[in-house]
Amino acid sequence: MKCRSCCGDCQEVLGLGEQPASNALLKSADEHEETYPLRVAVCTTCWLLQTTFDVDEKRLFSDEYPYFSGQSKQWVSHCNEFAEAAIKRFGLNDQSCVIEVGGNDGTSLLPFKGRVAGVWNIEPSKSVAAASEAAGIPVKPYFFGTPQGQQIQADLLIANNVMAHTPNINAFAEAIHATLKPGGTATIEFPWALNLIEGVQFDTIYHEHYSYLSLRALEPLFARHRLKIYDVQELPTHGGSLRVFAHRTDVACPRVTSAVFEARRREIPLTVPETYERFARRARGIREQFWDFLGGRYQGTEIVAGYGAAAKGNTFLNFCQLNRQDIPFVADTTPAKIFKFLPGSRIQIVSEKMLIEERPKYVLILPWNWRDEIVEKLGVIRSWGGRFVTAIPELKIT
Ligand code: TYD
Ligand code: ZN
Repeated sequence: MKCRSCCGDCQEVLGLGEQPASNALLKSADEHEETYPLRVAVCTTCWLLQTTFDVDEKRLFSDEYPYFSGQSKQWVSHCNEFAEAAIKRFGLNDQSCVIEVGGNDGTSLLPFKGRVAGVWNIEPSKSVAAASEAAGIPVKPYFFGTPQGQQIQADLLIANNVMAHTPNINAFAEAIHATLKPGGTATIEFPWALNLIEGVQFDTIYHEHYSYLSLRALEPLFARHRLKIYDVQELPTHGGSLRVFAHRTDVACPRVTSAVFEARRREIPLTVPETYERFARRARGIREQFWDFLGGRYQGTEIVAGYGAAAKGNTFLNFCQLNRQDIPFVADTTPAKIFKFLPGSRIQIVSEKMLIEERPKYVLILPWNWRDEIVEKLGVIRSWGGRFVTAIPELKIT
């Protein structure tokens, strides 16, 4: 196949089987669902890691997209800190415009409100867009990269965890250029492919994520679209993210920081084919380790409950071919998810209260990126000898 960024040749890295869209929760346990091949490949020219099969965006990001940013306290404080730093660094004031792409329920634009001339959330998903409007953050209901999405220009353009969500990464980059004022900066956050590979985070691979981004892969893409990355920051979010700062190259650009040179150096392993072979071996090893854990439970009767109906959980459960015989239920605090069924595994989602009533011996935390927050709030399971389990990057029982 050809690379979605540079049209170079790609090499397959890992096959994760036939999987349904990982956010497509089912209303009943026997509802029909579509599955699509889930495989990742890497381009041997620009080293962009990417899925090989494009599921139509409109099937994936439906009006019922169940993810609401405001759900996590940690994420909210991450957004507040970012806004404070950005207002200072870019000298944003009552003349400035801040635009967010895929701003979800408006959580990350809220701290800018009232401190700049205007904020806009370019968000096509109706359910979350309504929440954004309700919170006082106006919405342009378009897919970024389509012509309607480009009628406004920003001093600060934020694209957090959204660039990987589009099959047409070239249109997205071009839209960044078009939506930036000449001296404006775009800050783009994404789970860093370097951490995906080194931390064996194969569960973050699903159809909604068309690309797995790195500085190495973004630089040539941006250069083609008259954009340049002049700074990067490493972030702890989503298992280790990168935030890049990009500027238009048709106007004077800030000096490239040493952090960019350092990140380029650290990414050298991403340009070596053996790195990807090792990653695939380790992913299959994690699955075997988890099967051994399930098989080895005392008389096979101790309950392993799931916690967190995250998209990444579905990749993990379906790659391991698990169902409700293995994990009888998964608890989640998102009201819109409770009582629905996970795609593929068809395990039911229940409330946190129901999980506690069942007193499971093990609680498998599927969104391992929230492990600390979840272990802290669910400490009550210790009272009956319950233990927390995470499977990635290796089986951990505490
Ligand atoms: P999310 O962070 O959205 O991961 P992904 O991008 O893989 O979907 O998923 C976290 C899920 O876990 C989400 O459904 C909310 C849920 N959750 C809880 O139920 N309780 C919690 O305390 C936290 C932190 C998350
Ligand atoms: Zn490429």
